[in-house]
Order: sequence, then C-alpha cells, then structure tokens
Amino acid sequence: PVLVVDYGAQYAQLIARRVREADVYSEIVPHTISTQELLARNPAAIILSGGPSSVYAEGAPRIDPDLFDAGVPVLGICYGFQAMASALGGTVAKTGLREYGSTDVAVSEGARSILEGTPDHQNAWMSHGDSVQAAPEGFDVLASTAGAPVAAIAHEGKQLYGVQWHPEVKHSAHGQQVLENFLFKGARLNPNWTTGNIVEEQVERIRQQVGDARVICGLSGGVDSAVAAALVQRAVGDQLTCVFVDHGLLREGEAEQVERDFVAATGVNLYVANEQKRFLEALEGVEDPETKRKIIGREFIRAFEEAERAIIADAEAHGEKIRFLVQGTLYPDVVESGGGEGTANIKSHHNVGGLPEDLQFELVEPLRTLFKDEVRAVGAKLGLPAEIVGRQPFPGPGLGIRIVGSINAERLELLRKADAIARAELTAAGLDNEVWQMPVVLLADVRSVGVQGDGRTYGHPIVLRPVSSEDAMTADWSRLPYELLARISNRITNEVDGVNRVVLDVTSKPPGTIEWE
Ligand code: XMP
Repeated sequence: PVLVVDYGAQYAQLIARRVREADVYSEIVPHTISTQELLARNPAAIILSGGPSSVYAEGAPRIDPDLFDAGVPVLGICYGFQAMASALGGTVAKTGLREYGSTDVAVSEGARSILEGTPDHQNAWMSHGDSVQAAPEGFDVLASTAGAPVAAIAHEGKQLYGVQWHPEVKHSAHGQQVLENFLFKGARLNPNWTTGNIVEEQVERIRQQVGDARVICGLSGGVDSAVAAALVQRAVGDQLTCVFVDHGLLREGEAEQVERDFVAATGVNLYVANEQKRFLEALEGVEDPETKRKIIGREFIRAFEEAERAIIADAEAHGEKIRFLVQGTLYPDVVESGGGEGTANIKSHHNVGGLPEDLQFELVEPLRTLFKDEVRAVGAKLGLPAEIVGRQPFPGPGLGIRIVGSINAERLELLRKADAIARAELTAAGLDNEVWQMPVVLLADVRSVGVQGDGRTYGHPIVLRPVSSEDAMTADWSRLPYELLARISNRITNEVDGVNRVVLDVTSKPPGTIEWE
C-alpha cells in the first residue's frame, strides 16, 4: 500500500481517500510508529501528512532521516514537507508570517516534476506559520509563494518530493494532479485499486475466513449493512442468513427496499422479524428523547437476539452451527479506534470497541478497509438498488426520534407521508448531493391555527431540517431554493391530513444537533 503517515489534524484521511480516488490503495498509520515498523509494512510509497505542530515546538514529531535512504518514494505535505526538509538538512524558519487559505503558487521557471501539467500560477490551499527557506542539498525548488520561498521541492534521483500546500483539499485547484504525478511519475505505481478488484479481493478473503461455516448478518436498511451482506452473499451464498428487524420506525418504502428489492438483487436468505407492534407498545406514552432511544435500543437487541435464536435452532436442527457475525465497520471507524495495529487508542467507536465481551460469534468485517464512497461504489457494482446505495444517513432509532412528543401509529403515518413528499421533491430538484441529510420532524405536541378552504384548522407543524456537513460532527443549514421549499410546503399541507404549517430549521450545529431528539 501507499502509507499515509498521520501527523494529526484531519488531513490524513482525506489524503488516503484522494490516493484511492486515483485507484491506488492507501492506508493511514500514526506518526508514532518507528521507521522500522513503517518499512516492514512494505510501502509502495509514503506520504507524510500535514499536522498542527511547528517543527520547532518541543515534542514535535520528528522524522528519522533513515526513512529517506530506504529507496521508498516519499511525498511530504505541509508539516510533513517541513519535517522532511529539516531532517534532510534544509532550513525551516519561523517567519512569523502566516499563510492561510487560498494562495497563489508560482511554479519556478523550467521546473515541473510533480507539478507537470499544472499552470505557472495556481491557487493552492495553505495553512502554515513556519516555512522552508532553503531546500536540502540536491533538491530542486519547484515553486514559491509570497510567504514561502521554497513551496515545493523534488529530488528525482531519490524519488523524494515535498509541497507546502495541501494538494488533498478541493480548494487546491490542481491538487489531485500533483498527487497523481507523485503516484504515477514519481513513485511509478500502477492504478489497480478499482471497485472490481475490491469486490474480488473481499470475496476471496471472506471465503478464506468463513470456509464452509454459517454466517448471520443484521440488516438495518442502511448502506453499510446492505453492502457488507451482499459481499458475504457473493462469497458464500446460502451459508449466510440475514435478519431484518422491522421496528416500524423506518420511512416510507424502506422496509420494502430490504424485503423485496435487496433480496431480489442479491438472492440472500432473509429472516424478517415483524416487530412493529412490540415497539409501539414499548414506546406508548413516552415523550422523553433519551428514554425513547433506550427503549428502542433495548427492544432492538432483544428482537435481534430472538431472531438469532430461531436461526441458530434451525441450523442446529440441520447439524450446523452459526460461527460468524457480519459487521459493517468502515475504515474511518478503524482508524479512529487506533487502527488495530498496536497504536494509540484515540477514540473507541461503538462498532469496534463496544462489542459485548461474551460475543459468541467471530466477526466478518468486509468493509474494514473501505471509505464510505467506496462502500457505495461496491454496492452499485454488486447491483444493489440505487435507493439503498445512495441512502443518506438515517438514525438507528428512525422516525422514533423525529416525532417530538409520544409516538403512535397515526403520528408515524403522518410523518411518513410528509417525509416521503419532502424526499421526493428534493430528489426531483436534483439536490440529493447538496444536502447531507434532511430530517423531517413532526411537532406532535404543538398545534397552531390555520385556514383551509373555508374552514379553520388546528393542526401540527412539520419541520424541515436540511443540513450540509462533512461528517455530521458539525453542520450548517442548507440554503435550499425558495421554489423547492414552496413546493414541499404546498404539497405537505395539501396532501397530509393534520398538518397545516411547514417550517424551516435555520440552525447550524452547534448549537443545534442535526436531529431534534
Ligand atoms: P445529531 O443529532 O447528534 O446527529 O447531530 C448526528 C448524526 O448521527 C445520526 N444519529 C444517529 N445515528 N443512531 C444512529 O445510527 C442514533 O441513535 C443516532 N442519533 C443521531 C444523525 O442522523 C446524524 O446523521
């Protein structure tokens, strides 16, 4: 793989994704691993990421100069570039001048190397205080900016390169070109990390891990569990049984997408637990959001375990045993939980760190090396329905936390209708990709006066909560076109009985969360 050494900040994941977008496999490693460990992983190339430190700061991560003699092509970015220049004998100075944001980069006359195919002047995203003043011996200076006399360097013979800016962010106009020049011209790699190869490789791995044992998998209606299940199905066919607990809190059409379309696309064995009544009863009269979440979580696990027991009993009746459980863990979860390579535990993610200790199954995690966009591409390759593959994030507790007030069948029905209209109009306007997600919320405990036809109404408001976000940690409210908002509002108030007002949530996160409960 191409190893991306993470010097902090959030750039490493982005770099790894950009490398993969160039069809080259990449993984992230923490900067705390030794040069020996790094090289032991046989990297095809190494990228040193940016980070928040100054090379002068006490305890700033250093780079062992031996790394640059190992014959492995290296690209240093921002902090990685400065640390590299400093390790090789260049001069890094604290100028007191900060360059932040979009910056004009001037390519040195006659110099191209990893800047091949990019213009003499280009906008690039900068974020640095210190800057390299003199390149290490033997290096060519490829570019400069007002605040960085040495903004890019190359040593073709040693396949060593560095850039002060961030080629991985979209604000750097020719960033992807620079990364690809490093990968294909500098490091001379082959682009072979394609969706087809990912599928083949995962299918092979699953076969090796599972052998002829039986496997169980929970489906939620979301992308990850669907793609994980489809891969396992592709690998071991009927040895897999999927469980779908229908808690009755999904949106319109979503249960059918699993029960009918997913099954048709994959041929998977599906066990459906129809538990709508159970959840409604358990939630009756409950208004407190946290209590709702706890009840839904508890009942979900119970229902899943009951289904599991039925499947285990069936397997045992045939003299078989269920040995494996499929989990849709993604690569960012793995990285954030410390990568499983003996690295520091930054943040335990529920999929990775929070499994019960007495788990009776071994885990199959076919998405463990994949980013979300790759998961979607794999799903499409496996022929899954577009509605599942393209699905926006939807919380596990579903519509249960989008009804402010207690939950009952009528309220769910009403919200489902309003939500279906809002989603259909968003899609029709071609704006699915502009919003991260758009919760539609029913204020069941609020009523307001309206007028419809000749009569007075006393109905509930529906809240639209479209947000744009990168990772759901922070979000901004989406500026949807007025015409679209008008259409959604018209249709919901006309077509959904009991709703006489549609309002728009214009709160960012923080202070508001994305969901209302
Ligand atoms: P908040 O409301 O905290 O939501 O800003 C952040 C993201 O997480 C989703 N979300 C959940 N997802 N189980 C989930 O699987 C949950 O209990 C849950 N609560 C919130 C939410 O939709 C948003 O994408």
